[in-house]
Amino acid sequence: MSKPPFPTAYPATRLRRPRMSDWSRRLVREARLCPDDFIHGMILKDGKGIREPVEHLPGVFRLSPDEAVLEARKAHDLGIPALALFPFTEADKRTADAKEALSSDNLMCRTAKAIKNAVPDIGLICDVALDPYTDHGHDGLLQGGEILNDATVEVLIEQALVQVKAGFDVVAPSDMMDGRVGAIRTALENEGLTNTLILSYAVKYASTFYGPYRGAIGSSGVLQGDKKTYQMDPANAANGLHEVSQDLAEGADWVMVKPGMPYLDMVTRVKDTFNVPTFAFQVSGEYAMISAAAANGALDREAAILESLICFKRAGADGIITYFAMEAAMALN
Ligand code: PBG
Repeated sequence: MSKPPFPTAYPATRLRRPRMSDWSRRLVREARLCPDDFIHGMILKDGKGIREPVEHLPGVFRLSPDEAVLEARKAHDLGIPALALFPFTEADKRTADAKEALSSDNLMCRTAKAIKNAVPDIGLICDVALDPYTDHGHDGLLQGGEILNDATVEVLIEQALVQVKAGFDVVAPSDMMDGRVGAIRTALENEGLTNTLILSYAVKYASTFYGPYRGAIGSSGVLQGDKKTYQMDPANAANGLHEVSQDLAEGADWVMVKPGMPYLDMVTRVKDTFNVPTFAFQVSGEYAMISAAAANGALDREAAILESLICFKRAGADGIITYFAMEAAMALN
């Protein structure tokens, strides 16, 4: 390479120059954050008029279907495109076969219908996994200490169909069974549900940062053991790319990396490698850390929230599932 005809080193080049004023910083900013980037994570609880605080997640509430409708309207007014719903299930509704997951009248389905009725333009995303419904807290069926893969997939297919028929636009398998994306896609095609999106939790790690979520949905008391035989080892990166290639081949439209902040390298790798819409999940433990630090006076809450979210965008995320969605959208608007 020949040398450029102009000097490139300090002092001709001063990288601080464009940082000197707000207008020039704005003009050359590479990533942007706006409410379009957010998927609002919401926890549901059966009943009426319920808005119940969740331990370790100040600002997050378990919402009954009527309250979820009000929240959906607020989110829509703030410009948030989509909601991801997660159900709290009482211990007495949990069973080994997770049959509540297959009821077309369960909390998820009733809430989806109510929201679609009142706020038809908001996107609705449902988890496909059995953990809110099993009496042992695992995402799949448990037999002799093993999570059964293929038998679980059969149940996941039914769970996905029931939820789509209730009004969900996007199914998001978060269970990490092999082959579930392809099986769900085939079932959707067979039912003529050709426009349903699949957002695969493709790169999902066996993470301790899910702790507060398990409390939120009623799983923490019941979960036996850990999820390391199906969720990924936090030490692995190449394995995550293999997961994504598999899920895309099976018919996933969009893919996700989860958790978010400790795994931003995976967001970048997935986006650079596959060039498909790539989402990240800022999980409950991340929310809890930022909230706790802010409550202790260690961090400015709003600044920490917005910085954490712009970093997802810089890393390459097209969208972020976050429990901060409403708060961040309000701050940005
Ligand atoms: C399980 C599921 C989990 C989350 C969403 N779906 C946790 C887990 O695998 O135990 C975590 C969300 C969060 O921590 O905010 N299907």
